[in-house]
Amino acid sequence: MRRWLLVSAAIATFITSIVMSFYPSYASIPPASGKNGMVVTDQHIASEVGLQILKAGGNAVDAAVAVGYALAVVQPCCGNIGGGGFMLIHQAKGADIFIDFREKAPLAASPSMYQDKLGNVIPGLSTKGYLAVGVPGTVMGLNQALSEYGTMGLKQVMAPAIEVAEKGFVLQTQDVKFLSSKTKEFQEQPNVAAIFLKDGKTPHQVGDRLVQKNLADTLNLIAQQGADAFYKGAIADEIVKASSQHGGILSKQDFIKYTAPQTSPLSCNYRGYEVMTAPPPGGGTTLCEMQNIVDGYPLGKLGFHSAASLHPMLEAMLYAYADRNKYLGDPAFVKNPLQRLLSKQYATQIRAQISPNRATPPQQVYPSIASPEGTHTTHYSIADSQGNAVAVTYTINYYFGAGVIAGNTGFFLNNEMDDFTSKPGVPNSFGLVQGTANAITPGKRPLSSMSPTIVTQGFAGASSGDFLEQAQNGKVFIVTGSPGGSTITTTVLQVISNVIDYGMNIEQAVNTPRIHYQGLPNVVVIEPNALSTTAESNLSQMGYKFKQLQSLNSGQGAESILVNPETKLLYGANDIRRPAGAALGY
Ligand code: DON
Repeated sequence: MRRWLLVSAAIATFITSIVMSFYPSYASIPPASGKNGMVVTDQHIASEVGLQILKAGGNAVDAAVAVGYALAVVQPCCGNIGGGGFMLIHQAKGADIFIDFREKAPLAASPSMYQDKLGNVIPGLSTKGYLAVGVPGTVMGLNQALSEYGTMGLKQVMAPAIEVAEKGFVLQTQDVKFLSSKTKEFQEQPNVAAIFLKDGKTPHQVGDRLVQKNLADTLNLIAQQGADAFYKGAIADEIVKASSQHGGILSKQDFIKYTAPQTSPLSCNYRGYEVMTAPPPGGGTTLCEMQNIVDGYPLGKLGFHSAASLHPMLEAMLYAYADRNKYLGDPAFVKNPLQRLLSKQYATQIRAQISPNRATPPQQVYPSIASPEGTHTTHYSIADSQGNAVAVTYTINYYFGAGVIAGNTGFFLNNEMDDFTSKPGVPNSFGLVQGTANAITPGKRPLSSMSPTIVTQGFAGASSGDFLEQAQNGKVFIVTGSPGGSTITTTVLQVISNVIDYGMNIEQAVNTPRIHYQGLPNVVVIEPNALSTTAESNLSQMGYKFKQLQSLNSGQGAESILVNPETKLLYGANDIRRPAGAALGY
């Protein structure tokens, strides 16, 4: 098994080096490397915070919590304490843990709350303002992770975030790009304008210092009093007050009752590697289903981004998205048919329906038709010297979430309610046409595509008995994930496949142009240079339609780490789609 993998990896590397020579030079930036630790985030100051925590003797979880709070300061669009997400922890000694700190629907929510009397979805209601806000989970999730799996105290890991919020940080091109996209919305609210606009009026420029005193006070309160400050104390009170004043339905009970459950990650076997990822309400089911389907095709031999290798991948995306949208929802409310969807037998049945030379019409798999997709989130990956690794994807959904900040709290609240089905058959912002399994119910978590993922060497029960292979089994190989709404799972699929099937290094695997398909809308979205004209023409003949992006999709950012199985060296790749980020190792 092991020999086969090495031989196929060598062949794939050769093929890839030929293929990659056709791609722009960014695909050959060498990854960052380190022996003792690696932190990859999409904001360089947050990466530096994580690195300093590791250097100070913290483990990957300590660094992940410090980064989580730091991103809430240095990346207000996406990093957050006003939203939620998922953390996947691989412990070198101990169980693998998935922490679900996804937002919850308020207790006063109802399935048709975004529809008018005639049953039409009211545009903007699930995306803007307080009615769009789910009960935030980030503070509960981060603090729980630290107290159970970390080694440092809350004050210590939060100190860098508090300092940057108090003293400010210098805005760079990417930071200004995010902020200036919302000038009009910021101008409409004095408490938002006072922080995120210059003198409360005009957009910040590159080189300006962004100081967030209110956020520093909020973070200080959490550092002193723990999660209770957020869920039982002054912060909850301020959010509930603002929500009631502005047409929202959040109550103190919503906060008091919030929990962040822990489970085992979802686990699937991809070509002998164990892929651990997010169970529902996360997106890992879709990832595993796609991998199970493509596992039956020798992608490496079929050629990178050839029509022959992309056709099964696109079909896998179509089938897995149709199943996601039909069957999946919060496991606390819905019985997810995971055994069936994740079985190799089910993948075999799907493969039997895939024609070798014709695209399956989406209507054949999906019940109805949708309109185009829309597009914020952040993913980061951390590995330490002891073999622990953490993958976190967390979000306030859109850039700057619902666009509102409660009183003097200083942080944006999410608009995660839009991830629910506002009405069965009507697409959400990501073009996802979902069913009743993801209907709004009080206290329920909306279905997510977020898939923080850790791939380890060897799959339990699949060992050949080879001594070296056994020594590697269970060791971290890839840590990955991405923002990007419904493109998250297809991004993770491609990053993993690029390494395992095509032998790319992690920088190449992350930066190579990607494709995305979800059946509805019926277009394959392609980044510049993702397809050769031959591949595009062959796929068109099979029936695929394309939407060409003019630049790489800045909504994605697959901040990833690869551990060399032989040397144990850690390689980190900051996705060029998020130029403000950094992969820092030591
Ligand atoms: O949970 C989800 O699937 C979405 N709310 C994630 C949003 C996202 O990734 C936006 N990022 N660019």
